[in-house]
Amino acid sequence: RILILDFGSQVTQLIARRVREAGVFSEVVPYDVGTGFIRDYARDGSLRGIVLSGGPNSVTEGDTPRVPQIVFELGVPVLGICYGMQAMAEQLGGRVENGKVREFGYAEVRASNHTRLLEGIADSVLADGSSLLKVWMSHGDKVTGMPPGFKVMLSNEACPIAGMADETRKFYAVQFHPEVTHTLQGRAIINRFVHEICGCQSDWNMPDYVSEAVEAIRRKVGKDDVILGLSGGVDSSVAAALIHRAIGDQLTCVFVDHGLLRLNEGKMVMDMFARNLGVKVIHVDATEQFMGKLAGVTDPEEKRKIIGREFVEVFQTEAAKVSNAKWLAQGTIYPDVIESAGKGKKGQTIKSHHNVGGLPDTLNLQLLEPLRELFKDEVRELGLALGLPREMVYRHPFPGPGLGVRILGEVKKEYADLLRKADAIFIEELWNTPSGLLSEKGEPLSWYDVTSQAFAVFLPVRSVGVMGDGRTYEYVVALRAVQTQDFMTAQWAHLPHELLGKVSNRIINEVRGINRVVYDISGKPPATIEWE
Ligand code: XMP
Repeated sequence: RILILDFGSQVTQLIARRVREAGVFSEVVPYDVGTGFIRDYARDGSLRGIVLSGGPNSVTEGDTPRVPQIVFELGVPVLGICYGMQAMAEQLGGRVENGKVREFGYAEVRASNHTRLLEGIADSVLADGSSLLKVWMSHGDKVTGMPPGFKVMLSNEACPIAGMADETRKFYAVQFHPEVTHTLQGRAIINRFVHEICGCQSDWNMPDYVSEAVEAIRRKVGKDDVILGLSGGVDSSVAAALIHRAIGDQLTCVFVDHGLLRLNEGKMVMDMFARNLGVKVIHVDATEQFMGKLAGVTDPEEKRKIIGREFVEVFQTEAAKVSNAKWLAQGTIYPDVIESAGKGKKGQTIKSHHNVGGLPDTLNLQLLEPLRELFKDEVRELGLALGLPREMVYRHPFPGPGLGVRILGEVKKEYADLLRKADAIFIEELWNTPSGLLSEKGEPLSWYDVTSQAFAVFLPVRSVGVMGDGRTYEYVVALRAVQTQDFMTAQWAHLPHELLGKVSNRIINEVRGINRVVYDISGKPPATIEWE
């Protein structure tokens, strides 16, 4: 396995991800975990290499993070990245200076000398046989003098020592970030490091991760009880399944039904968790409480605040009943961690997103976040490895305030009931209609698979229609389907007209109270994905 020491870079987890993609188990720990931890970690011989991440500090200042000396004494290969390179240089007897020019973004570096790390890895080869790499740089400081035993591995004009190597000790360091996809050969470099330099086999996989994670949870919580807010979404579901695998009945889930869930969602969650998996789930039907508080409220932000506040209240009341709970588990995943790290710098609140994330302070519980290191697709894979059904694991995201932000203006139970039915028809047809595309494994993908999020929106306006011989005066439903990588920007999905036609027919025929269906063709920006 590979140990990654984190010096605070925003992209440290990407290193872990690349190592795992190479089929090798890796773990991220803070740079100051302590010598004892690292020694114990290395004791059974399974530690094959250490990566030092980037970080925001400068080694030219005295009180900034340093690499625990033991890292250089274990006899395992070490790869320093950015700050990790600078710290390695400084601590082993080289020199680092404050760069006058910051290098940020794409850069080209030239591989000088042949090293085992880079041999044969190139974006292009120059006439003199040396190779060029297109890499992603982000640094102010640079190494200006190498420690004894090192040779230059990479250079460019701005940074004559952009990479260095001591091949005898297998210490390598690069100023750029091989873990980001902008560095085209980054994967190849990390693969080379873990497989050939460290000698790791590609034998890490999700089932292994399950056992590691189960062990880690057991170690952490011991005999304590844990509570978790189960929403029916992918992240909290996978977290629940994993924690239950680890500690069984020490876990209690609280599932709050605010009356704004999708069709049959409550039943589905209870069937899967309580019945099939045998998880203890407290199911609270708080529909009346939520509807009561939402009555007469039309302002979107106000609605979000009410839903958030009521949710916290209901959850806390239920959680307090689990008297010996010491831990609050959450399905926080790595992108949430990055997003909240950036908070406060972004300025204006566009929408107050409410997640279970806002809960814990008053409960006096410690946080248990077993998915904190994983990306969404890894969480999905983990869910499958834990035996959750594919339809659940590949579900589109659903916002915390649920249908509350999909019923425009005042929320009423009557509207929610109509919307649930229309939405279920739309989703069913998306699942059932092949998109004509194939997955990487060659399996046919449905329109549900190739859209990132799709749902129906209830418009509380009535329009005139005709049904049989009679005139109707009923509500409108809008369909929304988007494609996006990161949900920050999105394109409306070009669904086939036949599919849209079928969904419209079915909704108007099957949902009494809806006589008109429209399709939303707005991108984000300027529209958002949800309508409120
Ligand atoms: P917008 O509407 O801002 O949505 O383009 C971007 C993504 O965030 C989801 N979303 C939420 N998720 N709590 C959540 O957990 C919320 O309050 C919330 N509001 C929006 C939305 O569904 C989309 O995936």
